[in-house]
Amino acid sequence: MADNDNVQSGKNFGVGTPQKTEGYFLKGLTHLDWGMKDRLSRIFNQQSGKSVMLAFDHGYIMGPTSGLERIDLTIVPLIGYADCIMCTRGILRSVVPPTFNKPVSLRYSAGSTVLTDLNDECVMDIEEAVRLNASLLAVMVAVGDPKHEGQTIRNLTQTVDVGTKFGIPTMGVTAVGKELVRDARYLAMSSRVCAENGAHVVKTYYCEKDFEQVTNSVPVPIVIAGGKKLPEKEALEMAYRAINEGAAGVDMGRNIFQANNPIAMIQAVRDVVHHGSKPEEAFKKWISES
Ligand code: R5P
Repeated sequence: MADNDNVQSGKNFGVGTPQKTEGYFLKGLTHLDWGMKDRLSRIFNQQSGKSVMLAFDHGYIMGPTSGLERIDLTIVPLIGYADCIMCTRGILRSVVPPTFNKPVSLRYSAGSTVLTDLNDECVMDIEEAVRLNASLLAVMVAVGDPKHEGQTIRNLTQTVDVGTKFGIPTMGVTAVGKELVRDARYLAMSSRVCAENGAHVVKTYYCEKDFEQVTNSVPVPIVIAGGKKLPEKEALEMAYRAINEGAAGVDMGRNIFQANNPIAMIQAVRDVVHHGSKPEEAFKKWISES
């Protein structure tokens, strides 16, 4: 306990120096509470304002898909290069060493798999997310899915409510049903629905035409999923264009862990996302000789 003898009166009140009122570096998130901002500042780099999230949650709907058969062998060596990891609680507890100290975007909704009917999901218990020290709660939202749209938006709403209680932000992940077109009109609509319902970050897909309409119509940061495996150069091109058209980062899986040299690929992606390197330069620096 502090000694209460000889308590000295304060003298240095900085009179004449107004206290700084800091803004916040992420779009649309200025009015969040301290814990939310602290978590988001661990995910997004404060210098670049961007994030390279490494997604390896695919197993929750696909099982041991290519590149994820042995996460300890293929993904763990990549974690050090990511700004944030996106995975399920099962993989986090069983395979990811807690000593990495990386922010976790926790797969918070789950349900059906690719074998039946995608998007039929419920959400986890918030106490579990707190125990796992999640920095972001990722919830699938299936706008336009005739069977599951309502339930997935309710999942998002419930997650934002409970996450807000504990200072954990929510990421709305826009699902794309087989019958839905991945164009700017649809992606802007589904991303905007996530933001309107309180998502603090939105994960969606890149589209070649008018992606700026997507990023401009959503008032919070957007990160893009990589989608199916592309040749490395094309995946870097996609990341470059997305960043230049307003994305705040990537949440990329297959285009990293299914690459010929995943460690080179994630470093190339980092150069593009954080330093604005041209895809050609990043490819030459990391991929061509690897
Ligand atoms: C889908 O199962 C997951 O939410 C993935 O995290 C997401 O699709 C991103 O991974 P990829 O870049 O492989 O599309």
